[in-house]
Amino acid sequence: MNAFAFYNPTQLFYGKDQLEKNLLSQVRTYGERVLLVYGGGSIKSFGLYDRVMNLLKDGGVTVFELSGIEPNPRLTTVKKGIALCREHDIQLILAVGGGSVLDASKAIAGGALYDGDVWDFYSTRKRPECALPLGTILTLAATGSEMNSGGVITNWETNEKIGSGSVHTFPKFSFCDPTNTFTVSREQTTYGIVDMFSHVLEQYFSHTPNTALQERLCESVMSTIIEYAPRVLENPQDETARETIMYCGTMALNGMIAMGMLGDWATHGIEHEVSAYYDIPHGGGLAILFPNWMKHVLSEGTARFAQLGTRVFGIEKSGKDEHAVALEAIAAVRSFFDSIGAPKRLADYDIPDEHLGKMAAHAVRMGTLGNYKKLSESDVLAILKASL
Ligand code: NZQ
Ligand code: ZN
Repeated sequence: MNAFAFYNPTQLFYGKDQLEKNLLSQVRTYGERVLLVYGGGSIKSFGLYDRVMNLLKDGGVTVFELSGIEPNPRLTTVKKGIALCREHDIQLILAVGGGSVLDASKAIAGGALYDGDVWDFYSTRKRPECALPLGTILTLAATGSEMNSGGVITNWETNEKIGSGSVHTFPKFSFCDPTNTFTVSREQTTYGIVDMFSHVLEQYFSHTPNTALQERLCESVMSTIIEYAPRVLENPQDETARETIMYCGTMALNGMIAMGMLGDWATHGIEHEVSAYYDIPHGGGLAILFPNWMKHVLSEGTARFAQLGTRVFGIEKSGKDEHAVALEAIAAVRSFFDSIGAPKRLADYDIPDEHLGKMAAHAVRMGTLGNYKKLSESDVLAILKASL
């Protein structure tokens, strides 16, 4: 494996009733003037907003609010949050929602203490050197944003969707209660499952040698997702299934399963290009693109594909060559996504070929994209075209 340093300071509160026991003391550690950040109102529909507000107000905390964070959060909304932090001398940002709310809050946290334009952190190599403290209450299992430092913001003026983060943008604390995900729609549950599964694939497809444990950790997260996905879809209020899926989402992208292993991440890069033009759900885009990325890079090494097939999907290898097993593994990923109702083609979102060239060019703006195979512009274009 590669030499590595690991750091993850987020304090997790997992399970039911943790809010009542721990929210106030956590908030008070950082201050008494809080910016509550949330999305389009789902947290009001199932009572979480009232629960949080009551706890904070009973505890004497002064709460300001920023609502309306969009799925695929926008730079313009982040800037509103930064202005609120400055105007009200905010001491802690409390993000209540899915990955979009958490990511926007990370951008606000870094931007509030920065003299320049917050977009610098996304459009250049500049990263926040300090940030307001951030706490989160997660309501959708998907991104892992609750326990990582990353966040993805969309700039609609330039058609760019870009990730950023630094050691300063880890949440200080995160509350993950599976019952807060009971109301997530079937579609969003599917997208979340595809997203977390894809996070593991991005790390699993690696040429780093001697990563036996890392591979097994990735495989166990993927096997668990495959086992529990049908249960959450069949019964959205299955608490044990929601809890397991939520934990899979956190573990898939908190840095724990693939330390010292160089991951790929090209598919995420390509998906962000598509979302930057068409505002599609991130998990939906990944479900379309990942199997096509797999086919495109298969010649870079079939062994890892075959290992995925045999260990995660139970494909028998007897009498078959490695290439044949690898192809079955790709088909198995596609049918897993199909089985949970994920989209298959860009056409499912009415996306034509109009902007594919611009997307491919932007995806490789730093030179090449990804690591399993270093993709050129024409590689990216080929993957996008195969996904039409
Ligand atoms: O806005 P509200 O009303 O809250 O509704 C949301 C939204 O419409 C709804 N929702 C969330 N929790 C709910 C709920 N509806 C009912 N009950 C609940 N309990 O779900 C919709 C989608 O929410 P969103 O936050 O956009 O979904 P997700 O968590 O999948 O986040 C997607 C964003 O995260 C980025 C993606 O690119 C995308 O912008 N990512 C962030 C990463 C990270 N920070 O590490 C990594 C990922 O690869 C990803 O790129
Ligand atoms: Zn993702």
